[in-house]
Order: sequence, then C-alpha cells, then structure tokens
Amino acid sequence: MPSSSSVPANLLVLLGLGVAGILLMTRRLRRRVPKEDFGAFVERLELLPPPPPPPPKAPHPLAGLFFAIADIFDIDGYVTGFGNPDWARTHESAVRTSHVISALVDGGATCVGKTVIDELAYGISGENKHHDMPTNPSAVDRVPGGCSSGSAVAVASGLVDFSLGVDAIGGVRIPGGYCGTLAFRPSHSTVSNMGTIPVSPSLDTIGLFSKDPNVLRRVAYLLLQIPYSDKRQPRSIIIADDCFELLKIPTSRVTQVVIKSVEKQFGKRLIKHLSIGDHLSSKLPSLKELQNGKKNDGSKSTLSSLANAMLSLYNHEFRNNHEEWISSTKSVLDQFILAQINRPVDDSLALDCCNSAREETRMALHALLKDDGILVLPTVLGLPPKINAKELLSEEYLTHTLCLSAIASMSGCCQVTVPIGLHENCPLSVSFIARQGGDCLLLDTVHTMYSALQEEAEIASKSNFSKSSVSKEESAEIAKEKGNAAYKDKQWQKAASLYTEAIKLNGKNATYYSNRAAAYLEMGSYHQAEADCSSAINLDKKNIKAYLRRGTAREMLGYYKEAIEDFKYALILEPTNKTANLAANRLKKLFQ
Ligand SMILES: *[C@@H]1O[C@H](CO)[C@@H](O)[C@H](O)[C@H]1NC(C)=O
Ligand SMILES: *[C@@H]1O[C@H](CO)[C@@H](O)[C@H](O)[C@H]1NC(C)=O
Ligand SMILES: *[C@@H]1O[C@H](CO)[C@@H](O)[C@H](O)[C@H]1NC(C)=O
Repeated sequence: MPSSSSVPANLLVLLGLGVAGILLMTRRLRRRVPKEDFGAFVERLELLPPPPPPPPKAPHPLAGLFFAIADIFDIDGYVTGFGNPDWARTHESAVRTSHVISALVDGGATCVGKTVIDELAYGISGENKHHDMPTNPSAVDRVPGGCSSGSAVAVASGLVDFSLGVDAIGGVRIPGGYCGTLAFRPSHSTVSNMGTIPVSPSLDTIGLFSKDPNVLRRVAYLLLQIPYSDKRQPRSIIIADDCFELLKIPTSRVTQVVIKSVEKQFGKRLIKHLSIGDHLSSKLPSLKELQNGKKNDGSKSTLSSLANAMLSLYNHEFRNNHEEWISSTKSVLDQFILAQINRPVDDSLALDCCNSAREETRMALHALLKDDGILVLPTVLGLPPKINAKELLSEEYLTHTLCLSAIASMSGCCQVTVPIGLHENCPLSVSFIARQGGDCLLLDTVHTMYSALQEEAEIASKSNFSKSSVSKEESAEIAKEKGNAAYKDKQWQKAASLYTEAIKLNGKNATYYSNRAAAYLEMGSYHQAEADCSSAINLDKKNIKAYLRRGTAREMLGYYKEAIEDFKYALILEPTNKTANLAANRLKKLFQ
C-alpha cells in the first residue's frame, strides 16, 4: 500500500474501501429458521432491581420493564465478549458494572441477558462469523443490521421491553430501521459510556431500542438524567430533500407520512425543505480541503465526503484502541479487519481535517436547528438487504447508507429512528435529528408524533391498493368495516385509525365521522369527538347518532346548554328516542 503523505483524497478513498471491504465482505450465511430467541442472545443472566419502596412512595420509574444489553457493556463478574471468542478468552471478568446498566437496574428494570454484536462491534450489517446471525423477526430473509444486531432483534421480537447497543457510525439507528423498532442515538457525550469497550470514542454513543414510544421516552429520560417537564414542541421541521433522493423506494411513501403527520400535529407552516448537502458545503472548509483535487458535484459529494471523513476517524480510533490486542493475540479476525489494522499510519493532516470537519458539522447543525428545529431524513436507503444480497457488497450501498448516518455521527446530534409500517413486507423507517443537547425536544417530538405517524403509515401502505384494484369509495367502505370490527373488539385507537383512513379515502360520508366520534368518546377525546360530530352533521343534517354523540361529548366537556340543544334536536328528528329523551331531561333537571 503506498504511503499517503500528500494525497488526502486518495487516502480517504483507501480508507473508505478498506472499511467497505470489512463491512461488505462475503460470507456464506445460511438462511435460518428463527430460533426460539431469534438468536439474539449470547448469554442469559438476571440483574434484579432493588425492592420497590413502600407506599405511599412512588414506585421505581422503570418498574416492571425487562431489558437486554449488547455484549460490549461490563457486568460485574461476567466476561465482556465484544463479539469475538478470543477477546472473551483473553479478558478477565469485569469487576464493575457499567454506569448505565446500574442506573437502569436501580431505576427498577430487570436485565435479562447479553446480546450478539458484530465482531469487535465493527460494521453495520449484523453479520458475525463467530455467531449465527440474529434473525430479523420483521423480515426473516433479510439482515438485521449492525453492530447492535442482537439488541435490535431482542426488542423487535418482543423478548424484552428495551435494549441497549452502541452507535458510532449507525450501530443502533441502522438495525432499528431494518428490524422496525424505535432506536435512539443520544447526543454525543451525554450518556456516560464508562464500563463499555471503546470502538471510536469521538463517535461512540450508547443507544437505546424499544417498540413502545412511552418506554423509549421513560428510559431515555432516566439515562439522560433529565426531569420531566412540559412536553417541548418543535418550531420547524426541515425535510432533507437530498437525503430522500438516495432512497431506493418511492420517496413519497416516506415523506408523505411525515408531512401529513406534521400537518396534523403541528400545522403545515412548520415544514421547510432543504438540501442538507448543499447547505453544509459552504460551511465545512475542512471537507473542502479533503476533497482537494476532486470535483465537487454538489450535495451528494459533500455528504459522501462527510461519510468518508467519519470512516477515517472510525478506523483510526478503532485501530488506536485495539491494534495492540489484535497483534498480540493473533486472533483469527475477519481478514478485512486485519488488513485494516495492518495498514500504514494515517496521514495526520487528513485526520486533522476530519476532526475539524466534525466540529464544523456540529456548529453548522447547531446554527441550522437551533433549540427547536428537527431535521427529517431517511435512516437507511430502503428495505433491509436480503441475507447474502449482492447489494451488501456494493460500494454504493455502504457509502450512501453512511451518508445518512454521518450527519448525526459527525455533528454529535441526537437522532431517533421511527418505524413507519411495512413496504413490500419489510420494515420502513424515517429519522428525526435535533441539535447536540436537544435530546428532550427530539424525544418529546417523536412521542407526540408517534401515533399520527403510524396512522399515516397505515394509510400510505394501502394507498396503492386502492389505486390499482378498487375505487377509493370501496376502499373507504372496507376501512370503515374494519373500523367497526375493531370498535366491537373495544380497540378504540385502532378503530379511530381505520375510520381516519376511511375519511381520507372519502371525506363526504357522515357515517365515517360519526363512527370515529364514537371511538373518540370511548378514548375520552371529547374535543375531537365533538369536532367529528359537527363534520358529520354538516354532511348529513339528519344524523341522529351524530347529535346524540355530540351531546354526550359536550356534556363531558361541561358545555351543558349546547348538550341539551343537541339532545333536543335528536328528539325532534326522532320523537320516540328514549336515549335522547332521558339525556335531555336529566340535563335539564340538573342545569336549568
Ligand atoms: C401499485 O399500483 C400499480 C398500478 O396502479 C402497480 O403497477 C404496482 O405494482 C403497485 N405496487 C404495489 C407495491 O402494489
Ligand atoms: C355512507 O356510508 C354508508 C355506510 O357506510 C352507506 O350506506 C351510504 O350509502 C354512504 N353514503 C354516501 C353519501 O356515500
Ligand atoms: C336512539 O337513536 C339512535 C340513533 O338512531 C339509535 O341507535 C338508538 O337505538 C335509539 N335509542 C332508542 C332507545 O330508541
């Protein structure tokens, strides 16, 4: 390999290819039948929380939750495996438990085991030649993603309520996207990584998986040691259009879900569009230096330079931490990791540039997002690649995937992967980023938007169906029927979503609004119920049910006069209706 004294651009290419080799290497992987635990665990154990405090004291904040950890966190008395049997063989049992695990157990959660991680936590595919690859429970013939593959799978399969992994270049966000779980990468250096094995400290963060937005928020708040206060709301939602252009599936399947959910939750005016690559290109002079000699062809080139700078740091720091062990033990590592380790020392100028680029990216994102902005981008390029897919071996797959993950990794920003339903039977996701230190805003925004995103995702995943085979009106009727079935089953939220779908497909039928109002009444959402009844009445002045339901909603809201009027009007339409009669008389006695 030539020494790269004065050719930083070449060096970056070499480093990139080196990592590409490692990350993309071919392995003979068999397609597996899901095991009982989906191959997620390397070791089962039990760390029990302290006994609950006696009432009237509040119970522990995480009481009743079970979690797993990637095999890179120390637990007192256990050997930390780091995805490599020689590592385990040559290391003593840990004598301390890592800070975060103690905090979670003290917080009331039970740790139930250690999960599979990529070899030396290196890579993004979820493949590890020493272990069977954990099975992606959401798409069994597809990779789970890495490096925290087992933790993602343990959550996606419902074996635990939440799990921990590590994320330097995407190790939590990417498997979250591929397995269809929420995945949180906190701002860099906000969660202590004492008691974890370092991979690339300037990029390393401890990340969190969960399927439940409430659990994610509760656990993240505890890890970040922040008290609950009023939920924060974003003032701008910026769609990174250039990042969405990298998607290998129809862009609108993802963007429409986000846009409609934002409109519903916060209003249209929050939405802005931006090419993040173009925006950054003038703000990262150090990257320009690294691109030296190479033509900058716009946004994509800026993003891939950023990804390459991230890879250089990742390799360099990984080597600094582990080269000695690797050469002393002669562990039979993946040949590509070895090739990487044995490479000549980096060009120091290039590394300086990479470090400066990191700081510049942080400042640029800080200035863009301020205290209340959220950046929206895809987590990954599309569907998880098939096991052994050629795609996994392509340079383009790696570079483009890392273009997406480099934005938060290089800026230290926090990011959450949010699942948005299925596309061609595979999990789909979208990501939200807030500035470094904006973790509360990010978690609160995701928490607020989660159900709207799921509703819109459900609609989007079916919208093609309506176009191709049946009319919108027919699809609306189907959705309403399903809603009625869910309502009968007392699944109010699901019923409301299905009626919402019916309304989206056909906004002119009073029944859909009136039925959704019934679901809202059951959920205690009286304002929404009232609004839906008014919509129904606008469409159909003789809808008795809508008057009765609006009367009930208004009664619950304390608008007694208006409630009485609704019940009276129902009586005019159907003078013998006992329900209306009883309600009107009862209210009149009480309030007139
Ligand atoms: C969507 O509909 C079009 C025709 O309207 C069809 O060609 C296409 O295969 C459909 N896609 C899916 C994923 O169903
Ligand atoms: C509205 O839906 C109901 C049943 O869901 C149906 O009977 C009725 O014909 C529909 N009305 C209109 C105007 O489409
Ligand atoms: C009152 O009217 C509603 C709506 O038409 C109907 O569902 C309900 O059964 C009626 N109640 C009585 C007691 O007649």
